[in-house]
This record gives sequence, structure tokens and C-alpha cells, in this order.
Amino acid sequence: MSLPAAVKMVEVGPRDGLQSESQTIPLAAKLRLIDDLTHAGHSYIEAGSFVNPKWVPQMADSEQVFNCIKRRPGVRYCALTPNLQGFERALAVGADEVAIFAVASETFSHKNINCSIEESLVRFRQVMAAAERHNIPVRGYVSCVLGCPYEGDISPQNVAEVSAQLFEMGCYEVSLGDTIGVGNAGSMQRLLNVLLTRFDPNQLAVHCHDTYGQALSNILIALQHGIHTIDASVAGLGGCPYAPGASGNVATEDVVYMLDGMGIATGIDLNLLTAAGSRISATLGRSNSSAVARARLAGQ
Ligand code: HMG
Ligand code: MG
Repeated sequence: MSLPAAVKMVEVGPRDGLQSESQTIPLAAKLRLIDDLTHAGHSYIEAGSFVNPKWVPQMADSEQVFNCIKRRPGVRYCALTPNLQGFERALAVGADEVAIFAVASETFSHKNINCSIEESLVRFRQVMAAAERHNIPVRGYVSCVLGCPYEGDISPQNVAEVSAQLFEMGCYEVSLGDTIGVGNAGSMQRLLNVLLTRFDPNQLAVHCHDTYGQALSNILIALQHGIHTIDASVAGLGGCPYAPGASGNVATEDVVYMLDGMGIATGIDLNLLTAAGSRISATLGRSNSSAVARARLAGQ
């Protein structure tokens, strides 16, 4: 077992974390969160989403977010773009990267992006062509890789097929989304057994929601297979508007604590990160979903 010496953390709190909050979040709170995360040492922050604002009202102010954050050189500020219209919005405000998001489940694809998997890939090709013209790197997501709220179990072969199409159209990386957080060490192992016969671990990321409390063990399995890009959400913020009952991503604090203990570098200062998560939790009036943050804030 050889573990990576360093991990790239992809902070998705400002997007995945905030997108399904029902209360209106003031722009200033979003800016403060992103600036706090920058200050904590993140090098990659998903700062917003250029989707249809009628579908996800919480992300409607993503233009203002991108226009007002204090960008630190070397940090990549990225956004979700489901179609060409979204890409053009992201381009106009200088997103460093964009992400397209496909699904390994036909039903979830319809619920989330209102089209079939096949149709989504056609839309994504338009985004890819535009991104290539503007020299913008594109990250791909595949959702529901370890289970779907509507279809149940998902075959690793389906995940491999959709991932292959995203790579073939030019994504530099595919993030494997356990959208509803049902995966466990066994199902993650079985998924990677299939995927790693076709793809290099350097091209893959894991995006684990923590509904069943299994995210850290799933991440550990991924690390043991050489995957060194991990998505996480500060304070465990979030859920998915099209996956009722799914909780937020694994808390960034919990992942950083584990990686610090394993001697794997992240570049993130756990104290500053905990302060960022504590502040946004207080702003939202919700309890902090990071076990590490709760323990540290209680003086443990
Ligand atoms: P649609 O309604 O089928 O789109 O939505 P349409 O092309 O028929 O257009 C309808 C209207 O939407 C038009 O406006 C368009 O202009 C507008 P109207 O003429 O009616 O006034 N529109 C847009 N407006 C602004 N920006 C755009 C845009 N596109 C169309 N980009 C669409 C299709 C994909 C846009 C819609 O279904 C949508 O926005 N879905 C968003 C879903 C979403 O954000 N889900 C959450 C993120 S994914 C996630 O969380 C999973 C992830 O974390 C990984 C994991 O956990 O697995 C990434
Ligand atoms: Mg997600």
C-alpha cells in the first residue's frame, strides 16, 4: 500500500454546501466564506454554479460572488456549468475552471439536469468546445456512482462508461460523486476495481457525501488506490436539491484532520479552516456537521 505524499483538496462548500439551503444567504456571507477558505490555504474552491436560477435559486448570485471575492494568486476559483449558457456566464466573470456534471443513473439525470445521459453529453460537448477555445480546463463529475435515490444500485460499468465519455471529450479529471452518501468501503472498493482497469488514479477524484457516515473510510480506500484529489465541504455543509435526504459532503475539517495524522500534506491550516466552518455555521444558524470541528471548538 503506497499512500500519496500530498492531496489536492477541492473545497465544494460554497457551491455544493450552500446550493440547497432554503434560507436566502446574503452575498456578504458567501464572500466571507470563500475569503476565509482562501485564507485557510485552499488552492481550489468551487465558488458557484451557473445553472438555471429557477432550479437552484441559491446560486443565482454567482456572478456577484465571482466579481467580489478576493482572489489569491495560485488559487483556482471554479464553477459548475451545465450547458453553453452556463459556460458563457462563467467565462464572463473569469472562472478559472468549470465543471460539467453527468450522472450514471438515467432517472437522476432527468431530475437533476432535465435530460437523458445521452442528451447531457451532447450539451457537454458544446461546453468542451467553447472551453477549449478559451483555454479553460474542464473537470467532469459523475453523480450517483455508488447508488441512486431513484434507481438504487448502480453498476460500476455504467460509471466507467460515462467517465470514459467525459475523458474522451477532454475533461482532465473525473470526480466520482457518491451523491447520496450510501457507499461504503466495500462498494467503493468494487467500483475502483472496475474503474482502475481503465483509468489512471491521477485522473480521478472522490466526492463523498456523508449521509451514512462512511465518507472517511471511502476516502481512505481511494487513497490506498493512489487517488489524491478529494472533494469536501467545510463544516459538512450541504446536500443535493435533487437527492432528498442526502446530507452534505464529508466535512473538510474531518478529512484534513485524518490526512494531517497520516502525514499527507494538504496545504490547509486546520485552525483557520475550523474558524471558517464555525463562522458559516453560525451565519446559517445550523450546527456544525464536522465532528472534528465540534470537538475542537469544545476544547477537546
Ligand atoms: P432546462 O429548463 O431544461 O433548460 O434546464 P432549457 O435549456 O430548456 O432552458 C429553460 C430556461 O432556463 C431558459 O430561460 C434558459 O434561458 C434558462 P427562459 O427562456 O425560460 O426564461 N437557462 C439558464 N439560465 C441561466 N443559466 C443557465 C441556464 N440554462 C438554461 N446555465 C438545466 C436545464 C441543466 C439548465 C437545469 O436543469 C439546471 O439548471 N439544473 C441545475 C441542477 C443543479 O444545479 N443541480 C445541483 C448541482 S449537481 C450536484 O450537486 C452533484 C455534484 O455535487 C456531484 C455529486 O454529488 O454527485 C456535482
Ligand atoms: Mg455533491
